Amino acid sequence: MTDRPLWSGRFSTPPAPQAQALGRSLAVDVVLVAEDARAGAAHVEALREAGLLTDDEARQLADALVRVRDAIVAGTFSFDPADEDIHSAVERGVTDLLGDVGAKLHAGRSRNDLVATDVRLHLLGLAAAAVEDVRAVARALLMRAREHIDDPMPGSTHVRAAQPITVGHHLCAHAWALARDLERFSEWRGRANVSPLGAGALATSTLGLDPAAAAARLGFHRAFDNSLDAVSDRDVVQEAVAVASICATHLSRLAADLLRWIDPALGWAELDEAYSTGSSMMPQKRNPDTAELARAKAARIAGDFVTLASMLQGLPLGYQRDLQEDKEPAFDALRTVSSVAGALAGAVTTLRIDTVAMRAACADPALYATDVAEALVKTGVPFRAAHRRTGELLKTLAEDGRTLADLDDAGWVDLGVPDGAALLDPDRSIAARTAPGGPSHASVQAQLAALDALLAS
Ligand code: ARG
Repeated sequence: MTDRPLWSGRFSTPPAPQAQALGRSLAVDVVLVAEDARAGAAHVEALREAGLLTDDEARQLADALVRVRDAIVAGTFSFDPADEDIHSAVERGVTDLLGDVGAKLHAGRSRNDLVATDVRLHLLGLAAAAVEDVRAVARALLMRAREHIDDPMPGSTHVRAAQPITVGHHLCAHAWALARDLERFSEWRGRANVSPLGAGALATSTLGLDPAAAAARLGFHRAFDNSLDAVSDRDVVQEAVAVASICATHLSRLAADLLRWIDPALGWAELDEAYSTGSSMMPQKRNPDTAELARAKAARIAGDFVTLASMLQGLPLGYQRDLQEDKEPAFDALRTVSSVAGALAGAVTTLRIDTVAMRAACADPALYATDVAEALVKTGVPFRAAHRRTGELLKTLAEDGRTLADLDDAGWVDLGVPDGAALLDPDRSIAARTAPGGPSHASVQAQLAALDALLAS
């Protein structure tokens, strides 16, 4: 053991404690221990295949990597002040166990290609977990959409009643957004599946190591195309956070809709108690904290993206220590989107939807003004004239404190829509919207089938 860093050869003075404290990333990157040991084992194989390690040395190194990893995971490893990061700690641990054989581990390798490899592996794991959590939200939405495929509700623009849709149509809209997020995660995975190992500090090595074999051993699709790019590039990290950020935005908007539905002033739904909290002072309160936090976390993830984008912009190629700052925002973004999705999946599954209140809200005759204007269009009236005629009628009615529901047969005949009263009906209005993608039963049914297929793939 030593309190001198592993690079201390050309130095005569040890680092200042404050400089060491600033540089130490162990608290954040210790979560990379499993990936660091895996990448270490792949590198050991590369060294063995290049004839730089005997079979026995390779075996000893592979065993030591597992032992050090297990000790770190179990919390029994004693870190020393010179362990700047997880990579230094693992290598130092292996060297403490094996002496000279341990000291062979880092040949042809740099923490620059190692950290890039570890982070990719770790992000692939975090993203796989996030994908499952987001898929669970989408599945919950589809289950509820199926249940409420024929239940009308006022659809809104500007948070004001606009036209009737169905609860199924509305929930499918959220599911489509999440399906695109899942597609984005999947496309990202294709680009992330490239191994940087073997790039060395920036220029590979003179040791005849085979990056493609190391990539295959680690389960990557292939190895890097350019070693300088491999150690410099963080777009894989930035893109993962971008995808998480877009997804968190969708989850936030879902939460905002839930919060609107459960607003007691509207009374369209109720969050299950399991996803609600009480007040420390007011005994009567049942607060929708789960949905509020789901709404707010998107801001934090967007902040993670801004941290990365700001840190990366303007950096010349080649590793620089700035890049160490990529991990905290990246890990935070993916873990946060997972925890939001996990909670929202449950909140959606258990949400009590008041279909009676939603249908009652569809009694607002104003919701059918567009249906009336379109009925005029079907008689040959140009739309702009139909819009004006309907609008003027609404104005006249409103002046007398009346609505379309108060219009008598003669009034409808005057307007030019003799059977207009029948238009003021949510089921009829929804059924008439037969266009694909619309709220009609058949259209939402088709969307559900398409979404099912997307989620299964
Ligand atoms: N802890 C560093 C990071 O996370 C590892 C690479 C250090 N490399 C170096 N040349 N100082 O980025």
